[in-house]
Amino acid sequence: MLIKVRKSWEIRESQVTPESVAFNRRGLLKIAGAAAAVGVLSACDDSPAGLQMSGASAADAGADPTADLYPVMRNETYTIDRALTDEDIVTSYNNYYEFGFEKNIKAAAQRLALRPWEIAITGMVERETKVDIDTLIRAMPLEERLYRHRCVEAWSFTAPWSGFPMKALLDYAKPTSDATYVVMKAFHDPSVAGGQRQIIYPWPYTEGVTVAEANNELAFMVTGAYGKPLQKQNGAPLRLVLPWKYGFKSIKGIQEIRFTNERPTSYWEALASDEYGFWANVNPAVPHPRWSQATEEVLGTGTRAPTQLFNGYGEQVAALYANIDDDRLYM
Ligand code: MTE
Repeated sequence: MLIKVRKSWEIRESQVTPESVAFNRRGLLKIAGAAAAVGVLSACDDSPAGLQMSGASAADAGADPTADLYPVMRNETYTIDRALTDEDIVTSYNNYYEFGFEKNIKAAAQRLALRPWEIAITGMVERETKVDIDTLIRAMPLEERLYRHRCVEAWSFTAPWSGFPMKALLDYAKPTSDATYVVMKAFHDPSVAGGQRQIIYPWPYTEGVTVAEANNELAFMVTGAYGKPLQKQNGAPLRLVLPWKYGFKSIKGIQEIRFTNERPTSYWEALASDEYGFWANVNPAVPHPRWSQATEEVLGTGTRAPTQLFNGYGEQVAALYANIDDDRLYM
């Protein structure tokens, strides 16, 4: 086990230790020791602090080829009950472990080149294919939605995402009737993503949902935010957003979408399955093993708010889980 599980009473809610810090300071040291013993640590292993390098040296220089599409029309069905979070906060307080284990990975993420970028559609589909990201984006019905985002670390924000329903992606990919899961994998390029040079982690970042979840109206493939193409630190050129689940399910930097009938093991599940499960539905009544999930810090407000079941989206998603007998629906 990589993370030592503490009882929830051992820390106060205000002292939640994010998984990043837990890995960095305790888990990482522990597994690094074990890995060194068997000789698997990369020779060019960077410390997280070393990842905060400046600059887009190798990254794409030109403007985003889809920039003309934004801003897209807002779909007023998806509204929020709080103020929008400032763009500056959403674009500078990030989790993107490929680029470091702290929140200020914005500069390091600029090293990622966004073009050329292909999405591979693989597995149980009528025809496996690769599609260029610009072709895909232009083929999809783009719209803007205001969504809440709830991180498992007990902070939250609201953002205007631009993108297209995941259902439209499934219609495009044409999975066969045997497919029951959609697995997404992020890019894997240790030459630009220093975190990926820590080879003891299960790169590439992988996430999965059931086909039923993917077809839910809320599942959204995101290509933009705040009326512009998505920024690199937020997962450009393509990320997932599932507002009723903890944020770690919302995988960034997607390069492969695979259809299968086997439940995948996601990145965090592979690292600490007793802390981060497959379903990861938001539930204030089910604490994380090391902290309460009852409330959340609303970024930019200096206040905490009560967390809601399914992050407030129960009306749209509760039926998905009505017949699922799994006591780990909320972890
Ligand atoms: N996707 C990838 N590829 N790598 C990551 O480290 N972190 C996840 C998720 N998607 C992550 C990822 C977590 S823990 C959260 S909370 C959200 O991205 C954060 O998204 P944001 O930085 O846009 O707020």
